[in-house]
Amino acid sequence: MEAKSSVKAPLLAVENLGVCFTHGAMQAHALRGIDLEFFKEEIHGLVGESGSGKTVTSTCIMGLLQSPPGEITSGKIVYDGVDMVPLPEPEKRLYRGRKIAMVFQEPGKYLNPAFKIGDQITEMLILHLGLDKKAARERAVHLLDLVGLGKDGRVLDSYPHELSGGMKQRAMIAIAISCDPGFLIADEPTTALDVTLQLQILRLIKKLKDILGMAVLFISHDLGVVKEVADRVSVIYAGRIVETSTKGKLFENPLHPYTKLLMLSIPSAQRRGVRLATIPGRVPDADKTPEGCAFHPRCPLAIERCSRENPSLGDFEEGHRVACHRAGESWIN
Ligand SMILES: Nc1ncnc2c1ncn2[C@@H]1O[C@H](COP(=O)(O)OP(=O)(O)OP(=O)(O)O)[C@@H](O)[C@H]1O
Ligand code: SF4
Ligand SMILES: [Mg+2]
Repeated sequence: MEAKSSVKAPLLAVENLGVCFTHGAMQAHALRGIDLEFFKEEIHGLVGESGSGKTVTSTCIMGLLQSPPGEITSGKIVYDGVDMVPLPEPEKRLYRGRKIAMVFQEPGKYLNPAFKIGDQITEMLILHLGLDKKAARERAVHLLDLVGLGKDGRVLDSYPHELSGGMKQRAMIAIAISCDPGFLIADEPTTALDVTLQLQILRLIKKLKDILGMAVLFISHDLGVVKEVADRVSVIYAGRIVETSTKGKLFENPLHPYTKLLMLSIPSAQRRGVRLATIPGRVPDADKTPEGCAFHPRCPLAIERCSRENPSLGDFEEGHRVACHRAGESWIN
């Protein structure tokens, strides 16, 4: 499905979000003015290598940034017209789980081993939706069916250790969507799974997005996975968005050298046998971000200006924004 026009109001907008972690004299500027928009019925993929700021972004949206050491130094996170950043904790809690939910990379870590899956789902429903036990159990059976864990509700009586990795991830997704959230965050939800299960979970997330009409933030370090699932894509590097567009435009005409290099590292049938490109070096630590364009030490197109001047994220064409002094140029003949 092609992404919705950005003329529509987003359900959730991150505006100029800045985050700094302070440890003694060390200051790590993990996010340096991030803008992201999320629309209903749309999966927005956020992609970047390890340490680029993906999880810090999702932690802030969930209202779970630990402070100290973290601090939101600038910006807003607007859900349905309300900036959630200044809200007191009890009000933030009304959003978490109820309106904004999250699935994680390792469901085993987040499912409570001491409680049956059924108890973990019904607890959410009783707490957030005020259902009685019977109604909560009925809804839990429906949720398990929705995530592909059977119509009979048998899994409700299982403990997490009795489930396979794929089933645990499905159960975690059932808990996440239990209160019908408008916004779902999936942070590397398939990284720990084998390829077949990965595909099944991606299909499930797409199906649930369609059925429930959610806006989804899908986080991955793998542009190939994002290509599979997303309607819109943003590329993040060293705490800044460097390129953002609909999936169609981004894959048709990547403009940022970093996006192009990420694309060259996706395995493809056409390039079978050709060695995949790897990007030399790594994302700088957040307390050592280089001056100018943070990508310049690794960029095949870098010029002198790049080490002095940080390019801002601007429109290259309608609906396609990029932060690069040489956007659209190529170093590949
Ligand atoms: N508590 C913290 N204190 C100091 N720095 C932190 C803290 N949490 C995160 N950072 C830094 O913020 C930057 C972004 O981290 P983040 O966890 O968001 O990366 P990521 O893109 O999710 O990476 P990964 O793909 O490995 O999950 C990194 O440089 C990281 O070291
Ligand atoms: S601004 Fe310069 S260093 Fe940064 S990505 Fe563009 S060409 Fe490369
Ligand atoms: Mg992460």
